[in-house]
Amino acid sequence: MPIHIEAKEDEVADIVLLPGNPERAKYIAKKFLDDPKLYTSYREMYGYTGTFNGVKVSVQTTGMGVPSTAIILEELNMLGAKTLIRVGTCGALKEGLEAADLLIGQSAATAGTTINSLTDDITLAPPADFELINNLYQSAIKLDMPVHVGQIVTSDYFYGKSDNYIDGLKKLAEYGVLGVEMETAALYNIAAKYGLRAATVLTVSDHVFTQVRADKDKIQQGVDRMTEMVLKTVTK
Ligand code: HPA
Repeated sequence: MPIHIEAKEDEVADIVLLPGNPERAKYIAKKFLDDPKLYTSYREMYGYTGTFNGVKVSVQTTGMGVPSTAIILEELNMLGAKTLIRVGTCGALKEGLEAADLLIGQSAATAGTTINSLTDDITLAPPADFELINNLYQSAIKLDMPVHVGQIVTSDYFYGKSDNYIDGLKKLAEYGVLGVEMETAALYNIAAKYGLRAATVLTVSDHVFTQVRADKDKIQQGVDRMTEMVLKTVTK
């Protein structure tokens, strides 16, 4: 048994949704899964397995940031998970992205040291699994959901709002980076390390430069719609 996810291999599904927030994991399991069973609660990093459309699916909390997410992903790999989809929120960096829009991360840049120490002599920028993000994109379009696909950046510093940090994000925006969050670089790098399928789908919660934040209900509705779309797509 891994150290942090207190589960046996057969308790975790091949398909795992990955919210950062433990309460969101609990909420997703209870709202969307049939017969959800809690398989781990250690450190309140709740993980549940149930079914959706008759297909076995798990929902596992990652916590906030790359170090916490990397522990969870290494352990999900030990437990045999194969398809990993982060469902989270992000700050928008480009005009044209509105609150509650969807953003699918094609790849995730990061200046963080945890993931950049994974390979000693090369800096990797592994992409999402193409088939997975293509299916997710097609589903979003069919459901008439506003959706954007492109590069994102994984930051280690949510409150890094100094002039220097903001200038750095503006430069990234000029290079086409659409949004900022805190976990996907861990997901795409660790998926590359073990040959797993990975994707990140985000709901825009705020705009970083204007500091306009959507109200909680709007974010919640966006996250619900996103989660349902992801579950329908990966269990088809
Ligand atoms: N920074 C990092 N992560 C985020 C943000 C942000 O501004 N908004 C939502 N997740």
